[in-house]
Amino acid sequence: MLKSSVSKLFNIKYPIIQGGMAHVSRAELAAAVSNAGGLGLLGSSSMTPEELKEEIQQTRKLTSKPFGVNIAIMSPEPEAKVDICINGKVGIVFTAAGNPKLYTKKLKDAGIKVAHVVPSARLAEKAVQAGVDAVVCEGFEAGGHDGIEELTTLTLVPLVRRAVGNLPLMAAGGISAGSQIAAALALGADGVQIGTLFIATKECSAHSLFKQKIIEANETGTVFVARKYRPQRILRNPFAEKIAELDAKGASADEIRNAYGPERGRKGAIEGDWENGYFNCGQGAALITEIKSIAEVMESLVSGVRNGAKLVSLRGMK
Ligand SMILES: Cc1cc2nc3c(=O)[nH]c(=O)nc-3n(C[C@H](O)[C@H](O)[C@H](O)COP(=O)(O)O)c2cc1C
Repeated sequence: MLKSSVSKLFNIKYPIIQGGMAHVSRAELAAAVSNAGGLGLLGSSSMTPEELKEEIQQTRKLTSKPFGVNIAIMSPEPEAKVDICINGKVGIVFTAAGNPKLYTKKLKDAGIKVAHVVPSARLAEKAVQAGVDAVVCEGFEAGGHDGIEELTTLTLVPLVRRAVGNLPLMAAGGISAGSQIAAALALGADGVQIGTLFIATKECSAHSLFKQKIIEANETGTVFVARKYRPQRILRNPFAEKIAELDAKGASADEIRNAYGPERGRKGAIEGDWENGYFNCGQGAALITEIKSIAEVMESLVSGVRNGAKLVSLRGMK
């Protein structure tokens, strides 16, 4: 059933990873994805080390399947989170947004499988040199922090495949349907990491307004902002328009930092403050039309992969 080097590496049924997302990837979501045959990740970047410890314990109560933790290296207290994973015997860690050399060896020495998220082939090479077990390449369509290189998933996957040789590779960015997973596999990926689609689910702890706005988003519903300070793709809301205007005026990193102020991500994702918060969201939101359960999402992704593969062969592509 969709076996690949990624499903083998993580001992999961389907090579479909739920990306670790600040504010919205907690125990219930991660456990539901793992229970449905994918790999759920806790998003630790918005958690304190103590909160992470509790979420790991909570996830264990909800699933006996493998799950992992995402650690954004530039988020607060990454080393303490690495230690929590080691002491808590977490089997899988996805690192991102920082130098993969910093923690890969320590995690691997503790028997943890390590994947690192990259936005370019150049950084994929660095991840390979750091000794990671797998790489996620994330295109510019993705929700959250994107690479300023602006490489789209379609171009990035084959480039990164070339850079990483046979290492297990996951594609991320813009994927909301099984046909897109089939396309990513055709491009050379062994699996996918998905974020935005998993927010629009019953099990995700995101504010209901966030989920609703994902459903409502059309093809221009997201915008890439704050290139000089915190390059990220977010839903187009009053706050995003304000930052986009500063970007267009050529505002400095400090000016943009001041306009952000603290806690905007929390205001959006958790409090549902449409005016003042930001909502990390990928372009694939335009393909999402309803809020489903994780079981329904996984089922439609898996059947969509098969249909996508069939479509290709029906068109005579052998
Ligand atoms: C709300 C949100 C928060 C995110 N936070 C993180 C994070 O803390 N660390 C990280 O590595 N990636 C983060 N991401 C990226 C996801 O893990 C994933 O790679 C991305 O969402 C894939 O693109 P997609 O949204 O188009 O599916 C975030 C994405 C979203 C939408």
